[in-house]
Amino acid sequence: MKVTVQANSNIALTKYWGKRDEKLKTPYNSNTSVTLEGLQTTTTVEFDEKYDKDVFVLDDEEFFSGSGEYDEVSEQLEIIRKKAGLKQHAKVVSKNDFPTAAGFASSASGLAALTFAAAKAAGLKLSVEELSKISRMGSGSASRSLIDGFAIWHKGEQADGEDSFAEQIAPVEHWPEFRLLGCVISKKQKKTKSRAGMAQSVKTSPIFEQWYKTAEKDAMKMVGLIKEKNFDELGKLAQDNCVLMHACAMTTRPSIFYWQPGTLEVIHKVLELQDAGKQIYFTIDGGPQTKVLCLAKDVDEFKKILSELDSVQDIIECKPGYGPRVINEHLF
Ligand code: DP6
Repeated sequence: MKVTVQANSNIALTKYWGKRDEKLKTPYNSNTSVTLEGLQTTTTVEFDEKYDKDVFVLDDEEFFSGSGEYDEVSEQLEIIRKKAGLKQHAKVVSKNDFPTAAGFASSASGLAALTFAAAKAAGLKLSVEELSKISRMGSGSASRSLIDGFAIWHKGEQADGEDSFAEQIAPVEHWPEFRLLGCVISKKQKKTKSRAGMAQSVKTSPIFEQWYKTAEKDAMKMVGLIKEKNFDELGKLAQDNCVLMHACAMTTRPSIFYWQPGTLEVIHKVLELQDAGKQIYFTIDGGPQTKVLCLAKDVDEFKKILSELDSVQDIIECKPGYGPRVINEHLF
């Protein structure tokens, strides 16, 4: 049986940067996010005896055993096969509607879509919590894409990772005016992937401990600010948390600089607008794109201002979105 699923990406409002357990992908600190409509992956999965190995095609390119992309998908399928007691290999075809691996969290929507589709294709009936944990083992941030609206991914305490999953803080309908404007600075794939980058930060950044202890407190504060819909405090906290995460990346040895000159051009414009009393904040993940947080009422004004900056190639507008859903149109 073929199953096709669409899953949205998400943006961390307070970040995940560092794993307690590399294999289980449990984080040092809890972190928070909003699932984003407007950045999605569509994935079709079919388990069948006709496949003598797993097949993986992403954005019309086939990946083979030994490549990071293929191995990640195959390992995720293996988790599902084990749970379902299934022996068959699978064909997986995926499409992103945004630049892959350039800091638009393609791994989050990708692994969430794959996990949801593969579990269903394998006949498993799993709770959102269970699917979040399995998605987490594929890519940490994917655990949050299972959730509608605003989410917290609990760091958990257990060594087996069973208490480390994402949970809803508030649904989409709680804050439909929330907006993210993804400013595309560069479509090139990043040099250091988040996975390798954060592992190196854990080992070598002299501020790693300060980072994750602060980030844990930030996550707890963020839950309250989301519930209260306190946009200005949320924006400031998201911004400060992002800067500390990047300080941790930059102080890693060797240094990891995700920011490009264009990233800073947007940051400075956002700060200038903030000084003028506007409700606008930024956050950045493991890539050069500056993501602007704002409210629906200001979108037209901010889009116009940001699109006039030399380094902004494109602006992707996103609003709070839902978790994965099954669709009937298959990709093969
Ligand atoms: C900077 O979830 O891509 O976007 O768990 O190794 O797959 P792995 O890493 P990934 O890291 C995301 C890091 C981040 C911050 C965040 O989304 O919280």
